[in-house]
Amino acid sequence: MKLIIINGPNLNLLGKREPETYGHKSFEDYFSELQFKFRNVELSYYQTNIEGEIIEKLHRAAEEFEGIILNAAAYTHTSVGIGDAIKAIDTPVVEVHISNTFSREDFRHKSFISPVAKGVIIGFGLESYDLAIQSFLNHSK
Ligand code: DQA
Repeated sequence: MKLIIINGPNLNLLGKREPETYGHKSFEDYFSELQFKFRNVELSYYQTNIEGEIIEKLHRAAEEFEGIILNAAAYTHTSVGIGDAIKAIDTPVVEVHISNTFSREDFRHKSFISPVAKGVIIGFGLESYDLAIQSFLNHSK
């Protein structure tokens, strides 16, 4: 199975950024662990801080991958464009968040992605990505 993880703004700073909220591990290190654990999955990873690049990656990924795992980070709460891009493609998108956005500020309770996502996994730390991969594997059986 071919899956891609798309991470949005500031997630390139994982490990350094607000470690009390997001932990001490870089995403690159965690991604290596995921590749090792899910050796049977063709896993790709893309990160950008730019909203339009997330949209373009969603369009392209739809041609190439069977599933998309998206942490749009702050754009989750603001981006009509990313929501529309997900609506425009047929490939299923699972929304993930590291922190429990519902236990944080009110503005993080709104998501433009949740209504158009296949499912949502929130608040399990980096393990949210692991659970998203498992959800794709379980549903492809
Ligand atoms: C986040 C939650 C967002 O509210 C925040 O802007 C992020 C990360 C998470 O994974 O917990 O950058 O998407």
